[in-house]
Amino acid sequence: MKRKGLGLLVVLLVGLVFLVVGVLVAADVPDQIVINNTGYKADKKGPVHFSHKKHHADYKVACTECHHDYQNGKNVWKEGDPVQHCSKCHNPLKKQGKVPKLQNAYHKNCKTCHKKLAKAGKKTGPYKKCSQCHAKK
Ligand code: HEC
Ligand code: HEC
Ligand code: HEC
Ligand code: HEC
Repeated sequence: MKRKGLGLLVVLLVGLVFLVVGVLVAADVPDQIVINNTGYKADKKGPVHFSHKKHHADYKVACTECHHDYQNGKNVWKEGDPVQHCSKCHNPLKKQGKVPKLQNAYHKNCKTCHKKLAKAGKKTGPYKKCSQCHAKK
């Protein structure tokens, strides 16, 4: 009897640890991200409210469509790797070699996908109307 109780306790504790770790990992990937960088020549547009979780969970967009770490021209980033802000590598003021400047990095990533899906007749996100992404300033 006593040993059974102990076994159960261990199972419960292990379960708890997994639960806590699970919550922590999930917390690493936010549901909604407000994209509002500074450092642009002119900050003309309002911030962008981006449904991060929906994009991968509901719209089934692979992480690697948006996250990358190029080594010798190949994207070696994989799920679980740390994620840096786009602005860490994309300069808001100028293009650096093959690395587009920050505004273009976002527009190319977000709008190109939306447009491509629209052309294919699929459900998609905005790519024409600025106000469908940018909040009012
Ligand atoms: C699919 C979403 C999307 C659409 C549509 C879109 N943008 Fe953006 N845009 C972004 C994101 C994301 C950023 C990065 C915001 C930041 O860094 O603060 C950005 C950044 C910018 C910036 C630089 C930052 C700033 O606030 O000045 C400008 C200028 C801009 N967009 C103009 C436009 C204009 C003009 C249109 C319409 C013709 C447009 N965008 C449509 C997503 C979008
Ligand atoms: C449609 C594009 C897109 C997809 C798909 C996507 N992400 Fe992101 N993710 C972003 C953007 C944009 C940011 C904000 C980057 C920034 O702040 O400059 C971000 C931020 C993050 C962050 C950092 C959050 C923070 O607040 O510091 C993590 C972690 C992350 N993503 C993980 C993932 C994982 C894991 C997946 C796949 C399950 C994924 N992302 C799918 C675009 C995407
Ligand atoms: C660790 C540095 C780094 C981070 C962080 C980063 N990028 Fe990049 N990005 C690069 C480099 C380097 C290239 C040029 C790749 C090449 O063609 O050799 C690039 C190219 C691009 C391109 C053009 C190539 C293509 O795929 O069409 C887009 C768009 C882009 N990045 C968007 C983003 C967005 C959006 C984020 C944030 C979610 C981001 N990047 C975060 C380094 C980075
Ligand atoms: C590889 C494809 C892809 C990329 C990259 C992508 N999206 Fe989307 N986006 C979608 C799809 C698919 C939908 C809508 C699907 C639906 O309604 O079922 C969508 C919908 C949206 C919507 C409207 C619905 C909502 O959830 O808010 C917004 C706004 C949006 N995207 C913003 C962005 C921004 C900002 C970025 C760049 C940071 C981005 N998207 C990058 C595929 C993409």
